[in-house]
Amino acid sequence: MKTRLTELLGIEYPIIQGGMAWCSDAALAAAVSNGGGAGIIGTGGRTTEWVEEQIAKAKSLTAKPFGCNVMLMAPNVKDIIELICKEKVAFVTLGAGNPVPHLATFKAAGVKTIPVVPNVKLAKRIAAAGADAFVIEGMEAGGHIGTQTTMALMENVLANKFDIPVLVAGGIGDGRAIAAALLMGADGVQMGSRFILTDECPAHPKAKAAICAATDTDSAVTGWSRGHGVRSLANAFTKLYHEKEIAGVPMEELMALGTGTNRMGIFEGDTVNGTVMAGQSLNVLNEIKPCAQVIADLMKECEATLARAAQIGK
Ligand SMILES: Cc1cc2nc3c(=O)[nH]c(=O)nc-3n(C[C@H](O)[C@H](O)[C@H](O)COP(=O)(O)O)c2cc1C
Repeated sequence: MKTRLTELLGIEYPIIQGGMAWCSDAALAAAVSNGGGAGIIGTGGRTTEWVEEQIAKAKSLTAKPFGCNVMLMAPNVKDIIELICKEKVAFVTLGAGNPVPHLATFKAAGVKTIPVVPNVKLAKRIAAAGADAFVIEGMEAGGHIGTQTTMALMENVLANKFDIPVLVAGGIGDGRAIAAALLMGADGVQMGSRFILTDECPAHPKAKAAICAATDTDSAVTGWSRGHGVRSLANAFTKLYHEKEIAGVPMEELMALGTGTNRMGIFEGDTVNGTVMAGQSLNVLNEIKPCAQVIADLMKECEATLARAAQIGK
């Protein structure tokens, strides 16, 4: 399927796998790229040495383009950016900070830039600053979220007819949702949670099982009182966090409470006291498959939906 995104990245299907701290490594990224999408190594919370190893591993596992996700507030961000430029990774997605000062550095190294933005104002700012594409991410997403829904973002942002590819993320769980984004005028999608449920994802089997078992009302958002929400599966951790937020405990106490819980939940499998970040489209996220199969099934369903849409009203 050809869109401005597939043309930009030289990939077969308009699907990229979202960077996911602690559960998107070289094995997952390469498997997504080999399946015809574009995989991403999540560098958030990782050492520069780990990222270097993973880039080398991904290069050994796939000849197709893959990317890295850079959390711009990471303490080692300068070294990570330098490494990605040296290794000439195909593209980066950029979040958790202002991407504008870094766009020229990546461009000079031939690395394509795809910032993740939560509203129209920032979309316009990064497009004017020379980003190659961008992701709009709605609050249905797993992980750190903004305040607009995916539908509102699609309406508000896509109406602007940007001359760079726009990807949609947040609650895209199946092929029907990909078709909906394309019909709204998007050039592709970024999916996170769907790719946790793959053989290649290094998430703990207990975390994968918890996502499979969860349904639509089983996620919770912590952190609104700190100014930014984080969506994960509701559990003892999110309950305790909410109690502390309601009690108005100092910010430092909330930060300490959350520290290390992502690794504990998604990577080490403590689905009770750790954080298992996942998006809201939980009813359709119920089967663990190889990445290539996930992508083939998504595209089959997307194409069937688009074909059905073409018949509406005929
Ligand atoms: C477990 C998990 C970890 C994530 N970590 C990151 C991250 O480190 N950096 C980032 O930009 N986005 C992160 N995200 C967001 C994803 O890249 C993606 O945009 C999101 O998962 C899309 O929503 P979906 O899960 O409903 O598909 C994370 C999401 C999940 C589920």
